Amino acid sequence: MPVHPLSSLSATVVALRRAGCVFAEDEARLLHEAAASAAELSLLVERRAAGLPLEHVLGWADFHGRRFAVDAGVFVPRRRTEFLVAQAAALAPRRAVVVDLCCGSGALGVALAAASDAAELHACDVEPAAVRCARRNVGDLGYVYEGDLFAPLPAALRGRVDVLLANVPYVPTGDVELLPAEARIHEPRVALDGGGDGLDVMRRVAAEAPRWLAPGGSLLVEASERQRDTAVEVVRAAGLSPRVLVSEELYATVLVGTAPVGAAEHLGFSPWGDPVTAPNPSAQD
Ligand SMILES: C[S@@+](CC[C@H](N)C(=O)[O-])C[C@H]1O[C@@H](n2cnc3c(N)ncnc32)[C@H](O)[C@@H]1O
Repeated sequence: MPVHPLSSLSATVVALRRAGCVFAEDEARLLHEAAASAAELSLLVERRAAGLPLEHVLGWADFHGRRFAVDAGVFVPRRRTEFLVAQAAALAPRRAVVVDLCCGSGALGVALAAASDAAELHACDVEPAAVRCARRNVGDLGYVYEGDLFAPLPAALRGRVDVLLANVPYVPTGDVELLPAEARIHEPRVALDGGGDGLDVMRRVAAEAPRWLAPGGSLLVEASERQRDTAVEVVRAAGLSPRVLVSEELYATVLVGTAPVGAAEHLGFSPWGDPVTAPNPSAQD
């Protein structure tokens, strides 16, 4: 049987280098492990050399020590976002109720649920491809819904969420064109574009978060260093107590917004979303 020209590891490394892959050796090893035949290897190398993100070629991404399925057209969870998950795990009470808003592949919620012994996991995204992918990753650990931000969540979750993860799109519209081609071309615009200053989706999430957070519960969002001060004001304006956490190693900035322990009274509405002066627990649904 003829040996395929790409079936030697060094030939793959050369092909990937020529295509501009910075980590050609590591990637070549992963592609060789993934391919069941020389023909499949050739296809994988071709797709990678054409600029597809490595994770989309392999069909999975490593995140927080686990492998998550990542389908074509779904945002690839970033290594820096492991910092957000680690901070969330440190904050989460035992048997926490966790919501992963804008969940993409669902990696964040699953990683947090595993790290914190969560009691409930609810995830949602507006993109059907992301929802399908998240359903595979979440499996029977929780529920995945499709729709705009909080809209598809069950109303019974209001006032009960201990940890609200929301790695929303936060690239300013004008900067989307400056992103590396892997993101710009192969990840959906809705996963990247956060509006004029990049914080439009974060504003919407922060504004509604207090209705869903349990007393003392926290919202965690990622932002860029340059958005930090505005993001703090966004969180504060929503009635949450803001805190900024930074990982220089992972180049990550995380905003935590914590609901007051007496959230309902403080914010002027009950955990059920009704005015606090007229609570009506029976109207939960
Ligand atoms: C930056 S990606 C993050 C995905 C995932 N949380 C992660 O970190 O891997 C943002 C995600 O938000 C979703 N998204 C954008 N706007 C949304 C909206 N209005 N409602 C729900 N999801 C939205 C996108 O489809 C995308 O999956």
